[in-house]
Amino acid sequence: MSKQKGDTIMLSAEDNAMLTQTDPGTPMGELFRRFWMPAMLADELPGADCPPVRLRLLGENLVGFRDTDGNVGVLDAYCPHRGAPLFFGRNEDCGLRCVYHGWKFDVHGACVDIPNVPEGDTYKHKVRIKSYPIIEKAGLIWVYMGIEDKQPPFYQFEWLETPDSHRFMQKLIVNCNYFQSMEGDFDASHAPFLHRTLDNNASNLSARIRENALTYEDVMPTYVLEDTAYGNIFGAVRKQADGNQFVGVTHWIMPCFTTPGASPKVLQMNFRVPVDDEHTMHYRVRYDLNGPLSERELWENRHGGFLFPEVIPGTFTPVANKSNDYRIDRLMQRNYSYTGIKSFPIQDLAMIEDQWGPIADRTREHLVSSDEAIIRVRRNMLKAAKDLEQGIEPPLLHSPEAARVLPDRMVLPPEADVAEALRPHAEARP
Ligand code: FES
Ligand SMILES: [Fe+2]
Repeated sequence: MSKQKGDTIMLSAEDNAMLTQTDPGTPMGELFRRFWMPAMLADELPGADCPPVRLRLLGENLVGFRDTDGNVGVLDAYCPHRGAPLFFGRNEDCGLRCVYHGWKFDVHGACVDIPNVPEGDTYKHKVRIKSYPIIEKAGLIWVYMGIEDKQPPFYQFEWLETPDSHRFMQKLIVNCNYFQSMEGDFDASHAPFLHRTLDNNASNLSARIRENALTYEDVMPTYVLEDTAYGNIFGAVRKQADGNQFVGVTHWIMPCFTTPGASPKVLQMNFRVPVDDEHTMHYRVRYDLNGPLSERELWENRHGGFLFPEVIPGTFTPVANKSNDYRIDRLMQRNYSYTGIKSFPIQDLAMIEDQWGPIADRTREHLVSSDEAIIRVRRNMLKAAKDLEQGIEPPLLHSPEAARVLPDRMVLPPEADVAEALRPHAEARP
């Protein structure tokens, strides 16, 4: 899949296209369509018969609505009569009614009323609108957009079972391809540059950074990585001043879930859902498996502006965004932080939303040893898409329990074998 260019391994243009394209009919699009995907926050449809919501997923235009009984439907955005947008529809009496000529559809895609012609009562049984199965769970509406008889069992991530009080979630629109949004999670080497303050984060009071301050001392982390049943496990190894090894344990769970940045108590998962090839919905959940999130944690998440950036009200667009250069403050950059950009995720957005554009041209890269984990995920993702083309399904589809894994952090003595210490973390938890 890759060829040598000088002393680096670069992706071919064909493989870069396969990696980044998820529209219907593309190999990666077919892979994504075999998995349950987060479609929206459950709060976006707050109650029965509430206004419908426009959705765009994997390059498909859709509409989501919650009917009179509280059930959610995800339908084609366009009415099958003559293609009017159902977003403007009337959500009433257990169905969404197109306001052009009154045709009405239920959450399963059945046409239940054609009121504008005498043949409507019989013809309605011949009309369907595309609809996708959904599962509402853990504050999210999940959708399955794949082949009907291939629908896999649902995920078994432990945070899915926690009460609402144990979780905090944010959704952000990211204006680039899903893969370059995700790559940063397998790139330990960027953190001590992009995300540092000029005093190694000693003065940064944000909860997460304070807990992780020691990860910023070694600017040349190395990776120990293994292929697993669910994707990959990574140990990012940083030398501490006393010679011990600080190991951050991260997972990539196929196709778009990652578990970065573990702190001792509050864990995190990221998921990057392709909207289309140039836009991504980035969901971030922070959770505590053992109890409600603390007041301090919630305050930091809601109002701190560092871990979760402020968004323009009523949107998923950060206030600091590409149109205003992410509100970079050059004085702050000179005196306080490496970037001069306030929020942690916004520091990433400033780097990823324009990597030679919204779809990075990976034939132009000069990869080095710190990019080893990224190279591995690209390879495994491409392999999964190519395997599926040959009819070989990812094993994870049929054994979602394999992905019951958690991020972690370990401090190991200088001579310890990191790969051995990593191994138990790749085993499914009970
Ligand atoms: S286009 Fe929707 S009812 Fe005619
Ligand atoms: Fe980052």
